[in-house]
Amino acid sequence: MTEMTTVTEAAAPAPKLPTLPDAQTVTEVKHWTDRLFSFRCTRPASLRFRSGEFVMIGLMGDPDPKTGKQKPLLRAYSIASPSWDEELEFYSIKVPDGPLTSKLQHIQVGDEIILRPKPVGTLVHDALLPGKRIWFFATGTGFAPFASLLREPQTYEDYDEVIITHTCREVGELQYSHDLIESLKHDELLNELIGEGFWKKIKYYPTTTREESPKMGRITDLMRSGKVFEDLGVPPINPQDDRAMVCGNLAFNLDIKDLLESYGLEEGANSKPAQYVVEKAFLD
Ligand code: A2P
Repeated sequence: MTEMTTVTEAAAPAPKLPTLPDAQTVTEVKHWTDRLFSFRCTRPASLRFRSGEFVMIGLMGDPDPKTGKQKPLLRAYSIASPSWDEELEFYSIKVPDGPLTSKLQHIQVGDEIILRPKPVGTLVHDALLPGKRIWFFATGTGFAPFASLLREPQTYEDYDEVIITHTCREVGELQYSHDLIESLKHDELLNELIGEGFWKKIKYYPTTTREESPKMGRITDLMRSGKVFEDLGVPPINPQDDRAMVCGNLAFNLDIKDLLESYGLEEGANSKPAQYVVEKAFLD
């Protein structure tokens, strides 16, 4: 006993051994509201991904009452950090009785999460044909892939204008997107990499539906009425100039898809690039 203690104290601090398969270590956690949080973790050296893609992440589930065995509890999460970032960032909802997020919301710096290093997804630049203007349409945590794409140099190389709409129930739920877009103005690395003032290409259009804010209403209604185009000073969406990426709840994705088709845009894929792409938000 004594001997062991002595050896441990004398040695250099031993690296913490991963206790989970595909373990990564949490490096930062931020709680935005009682329903939303974001966190950062280490990135596996071998993980290559395209900004806008998602991976499976999670924790070990509770032990099986009969066998005592634990199985990983995994969900698809869009990577919110850009492809060049040394770490990975995720933006998540907290569902009180959600199998994963009820636990995940309690993670702290130094904890481990499971991260399967197999990125996939349709919200990638490769799935779109060249255009003049890119629209990112998000509700709630559907903003996550756009947090990645807004920090991706290719977004600004490919387009003259970058429009991001974010619809949430309450004002506090817009804080993450607001802060992220503000941070771009002061990001020395990106301003140097992409070009000083690159962020001036961004038009941010946040709206709320259940709490008073400067811009109220569902983005779908604001598109149908033409208000969003008027507010932003851009022409209505058309297949020559506009490209779109969509990420929100299922009903939202379908409604925006219908609207985009009504403007004459066609859905693209990695294998057949076109004018818009859709992903569903991955909720618990
Ligand atoms: P609303 O408050 O009118 O339902 P949720 O938290 O339910 O995922 O919704 C996030 C935001 O997306 C809310 O502001 C919600 O508006 C809006 N929303 C939900 N469904 C749609 C839809 N089909 N079209 C447009 N906005 C939607």
